[in-house]
Amino acid sequence: MSKNEQSFWSKLSQKLTKAKPIENEEDIMTDHDYDGIKELDNVLPPWWLAGFYITIAVGIFYYIMVFFTDKYDQKAEYERAVAEGNAAVEQYKKDNPELYDDANLEALTDPKDIQKGKELFASKTCTACHLEDGGGSIGPNLTDEYWVLGGGFKNIFNTISKGGRPGKGMIAWESTISQKERQQLASYILTLQGTTPANPKAPEGEIWKEGEGS
Ligand code: HEC
Repeated sequence: MSKNEQSFWSKLSQKLTKAKPIENEEDIMTDHDYDGIKELDNVLPPWWLAGFYITIAVGIFYYIMVFFTDKYDQKAEYERAVAEGNAAVEQYKKDNPELYDDANLEALTDPKDIQKGKELFASKTCTACHLEDGGGSIGPNLTDEYWVLGGGFKNIFNTISKGGRPGKGMIAWESTISQKERQQLASYILTLQGTTPANPKAPEGEIWKEGEGS
C-alpha cells in the first residue's frame, strides 16, 4: 500500500469515528477514576449516529405508511397478493390449456403410470373405502363391470375429479389431486377390471360397456 492510500483510509476512519488521537486524549479525559480505570468523554462516532438517525427516519416512514395510508395495510396487501396470484393462475391456465381441459384425456398404459396410480390409490387414502385390491367396502367394488357412476376412463376420471353423489362419501378430488395424478388413478383402476379381490363387494349400479352410453 502506498503512503497516499494509507492516509486516505486513516482520514476516512478519522471522519467516521472522530476519535481523538491518542496523544490528545488528555483533552477529553473525565475526572472519573475508578481504581485507576479512567473514562474518556468521546463524541458519538458519526457512523453510529448516522445509523441511529436512519432508524428513526425509517420508523417514522413506516409509522406513516402503516397508520395513515393503505400502502402497508396487511389486509389490503393480502388481498392484493391474492388477486395477483389468481391472475397468475388464470394466465397459466390460458397458456397451458391442455393441463386444464379434461376432454382430451385418455387412459395411460405406460406401466410406470399404472404403478404410480397404484401408489396413489394407497397414499391418497382411496384404499380406506375401496380396499387395497379394489374389492370395495364403503365405496363400491372397482373390479367388476358394474358401475354406479359409469365405467370407462372418462367416467372414472370424472368421478374421481368431481366426486360421487352427494352424501355418499366419495368427495371431489380435483382440488387436492393433480390432473396427471387423477389420470394415473383412473388408468390404474381400469386395470383392476376382471381381477378377483379377496372380499368382493356385491355389484352396485349397472353393467357398463365402452361405447354404450356414458
Ligand atoms: C370416504 C370413502 C371414500 C374414499 C376415501 C374414496 N372413495 Fe371412491 N367412492 C366412495 C363411495 C361411497 C362411492 C360411491 C359414490 C356414489 O354412490 O355416488 C365411490 C365411488 C368411486 C368410484 C366410482 C365407482 C362406481 O361404481 O361408479 C371411483 C372410480 C372411485 N370411487 C375412486 C376413488 C379414488 C381413486 C379414491 C382416492 C382418490 C377414492 N375413490 C376415495 C367412497 C370413497
